[in-house]
Amino acid sequence: MSQPRRARAKALAVASEIYPLVKTGGLADVVGALPGALAREGVETRTLVPGYPAVMDKLEDAEPVHAYRALYGGPARLVAGRVGALDLIALDAPHLYSRPGNPYIGPDGADWPDNAIRFAALARAGADVALGVLKGWRPDLVHAHDWQAALLPAFLRYQDAARPATVVTVHNLAFQGQFPRDMLGALGLPPESFAIDGVEYYGAIGFLKAGLQLADAITTVSPSYALEIQSPEAGMGLDGLLRARAAALHGILNGVDTDVWNPKADPHIAAAYAAPNARAKQKNRAALRARLRLDDDPQALVLGVVSRLSWQKGLDLLLECLPTLFEENIQLALLGAGDADLEAAFRAAASSHPGRIGLFLGYDEQLAHLVQAGCDALLVPSRFEPCGLTQLCALRYGAVPVVARVGGLADTIVDANEMALAAGVATGLQFAAGSAARLAHALRRAAALHRDAPTWKALQANGMATDVSWDAPARHYADLYRALIRANASNRRVA
Ligand code: ADP
Ligand code: GLC
Repeated sequence: MSQPRRARAKALAVASEIYPLVKTGGLADVVGALPGALAREGVETRTLVPGYPAVMDKLEDAEPVHAYRALYGGPARLVAGRVGALDLIALDAPHLYSRPGNPYIGPDGADWPDNAIRFAALARAGADVALGVLKGWRPDLVHAHDWQAALLPAFLRYQDAARPATVVTVHNLAFQGQFPRDMLGALGLPPESFAIDGVEYYGAIGFLKAGLQLADAITTVSPSYALEIQSPEAGMGLDGLLRARAAALHGILNGVDTDVWNPKADPHIAAAYAAPNARAKQKNRAALRARLRLDDDPQALVLGVVSRLSWQKGLDLLLECLPTLFEENIQLALLGAGDADLEAAFRAAASSHPGRIGLFLGYDEQLAHLVQAGCDALLVPSRFEPCGLTQLCALRYGAVPVVARVGGLADTIVDANEMALAAGVATGLQFAAGSAARLAHALRRAAALHRDAPTWKALQANGMATDVSWDAPARHYADLYRALIRANASNRRVA
């Protein structure tokens, strides 16, 4: 029997990053991959992004579709266009976005001083599109990602026109977008919005708080993180609000773009492979060792890391475990960038242990692929992790993930305990988050499992057989979108 036809839905996504144009982390990966997966579920997505130079330069078939004489202090336009299969709307506002490099941080390493205005403008433009400012296209639902877009439901709330359904996704509760209350007028928010059930947050204006308060639904990027953030320990000041909105809060795991992350056809690796393949692994490991100047020691386990270097990611714990690495003949291949202190500490460790610690401190998309293909195990020792993508890439590349048991890491990796090994379902190793002693223990376990070649191969095979695609997550999002669109339409009929 054929499936009943579902009505096509139109969604506007709003975000401050999108792969392959602008990326500082997994947010960009998600925003870049979800539209393609949603299209297969009958959801048509257009994505509104700031018109940074990296966006404006790449936009194909660019066509101005709306003009603002003044938007927060300067002329601006909405420009529709495409990049590959992505259907984009760029907010071309040179006074806000015509700045190269990192989307949030200026050349002095500090946040741009006008970030509140820059991202209020993004949300404002999103609200305008939501209310039908584009000729011939009006979304049924708006999906705002992270604090940079989260003021959008506030702009829709304090006006009278019928509005589409709204979803806000929390990719990381650590970034909330909090600004002084005296900016209310400058942000274009009405006085009545400064209330406990509006944008007010501990006496200031909270962008993410506003979104969490006012969106029809909240999603976050794993079921475990959805639970964790309702507790004071992980709620970062927003747990009370999240508990109050628990019925509207959904945890939907991320996937990875299996065309971008595909060991069968990856231009950035030394040898392609489709299943655990010792020869291909060896070639990729050799290429990685050569790139990071690691010794050619056939017995050593290569432990990969691809990460921002920040407190969240727990890599300071790894620095405490260096003696264990050397005892267990584990080599470290680390690709990371971030906190100056951590970078300096890893640089010092590498220069004391040449050939055993290989580093690239910086951002390198291609090297990220070679690390995944060339390492034996991939470490993600986060203190908290909303979802995490690198462990999913690792599964796909036959690198065995060693992860902290937290957030999306806990939800995506099956620990190689006796029962899971016996049942043939183990894919990696988990350890209690935030503890160097537990991490050291996990590294010893990983080294022992690695010496047991058939067991290690089974872990790799189970990992490579795991579905890390966007198919299942996109189905969840599409079902949620449709439920929200229906509820919004019936609310409108009642009102
Ligand atoms: P987060 O978004 O918290 O940084 P995720 O695991 O969700 O963590 O996403 C990180 C993304 O950024 C992955 O696609 C990963 O490959 C990539 N990445 C992280 N650090 C680097 C780096 N130094 N160079 C290249 N890619 C990186
Ligand atoms: C955030 C989180 C990360 C998540 C990513 C994409 O950056 O830190 O865990 O995978 O967003 O949702």
